[in-house]
Amino acid sequence: MANAREANMLVETSRHDRVLVATLNRTDALNAISAQVLADLDAVLTDAESDAGIGALVLTGAGGKAFAAGADISEFRGATAVEARAIAARGQTLTRRLERSRLPVIAAINGYALGGGCEIALACDIRLAAESARLGQPEVTLGIVPGWGGSQRLPAIVGAGVAREMILTGRHVGAQEALRIGLVNALHPSERLLEEAIELGNRIAALPPLAVAWAKELTVAATAGDLDARLERERDVFALTFATEDHVEGVSAFLEKRPGEFRGR
Ligand code: COA
Repeated sequence: MANAREANMLVETSRHDRVLVATLNRTDALNAISAQVLADLDAVLTDAESDAGIGALVLTGAGGKAFAAGADISEFRGATAVEARAIAARGQTLTRRLERSRLPVIAAINGYALGGGCEIALACDIRLAAESARLGQPEVTLGIVPGWGGSQRLPAIVGAGVAREMILTGRHVGAQEALRIGLVNALHPSERLLEEAIELGNRIAALPPLAVAWAKELTVAATAGDLDARLERERDVFALTFATEDHVEGVSAFLEKRPGEFRGR
């Protein structure tokens, strides 16, 4: 039976042999990642890591329309630069934790994975997607920049040229393009996506766990370099954008469902 904490969680979990599936469940906001969602994900990771019976984690989104359509933009409204730095720090901590976890983490991407949603997927070890997947870093369209590691991990995964174009335009890429540029590892029909992710997770979980954890650590290190210093710079720039008028306009325009008017101030 679910305990009180689980009953209030915006992230639901289910166990499938040695795989724990964590499902973002805030479908009324396309699974936008609020501070509470981040805290719930952190708690799920803590529980999963302390259970020796679990050998892999699958992250996905409820409702079929979105993996996650970004950080919760309503939490950006009125935030000071200092508060914005804390928002960036919270998301960076979770994404870094996913990378540092002993557990292999697989993202099962159904629908939108934008902004913070894309950044969480980028911190996973393997990304599987349905045809409905749409990934991107649309932050510039709001007058901000990626703040949960996207400016650093997207270039590492798809290469600097494609990443720069995606981040500077904010455009979404569809499933086929995501596969072509290496942003996702494989596509599956929507109705089979979760099943395939669980199967893959169980296949990895059946391998020697220490070798898997160390292999993960080595491959993460291959592209990490001075990642923590670069993430600190990303946090600072993210915070700086919150001191601009364009950020206020961008966030207001999104929430008021109108195009933004930007002045470079
Ligand atoms: N934060 C908060 N709320 C969000 C959200 C986010 N990142 N993304 C979507 N929502 C909410 C919408 O405000 C809307 O709420 P409402 O029904 O109370 O008005 C609801 O989710 C459905 O979204 P809507 O925009 O109406 O759906 P759509 O199908 O027309 O468009 C998207 C889908 C994903 C293209 C659009 O929601 C979008 O651009 N979202 C923001 C993406 C983004 O910039 N993310 C980066 C944030 S850093």
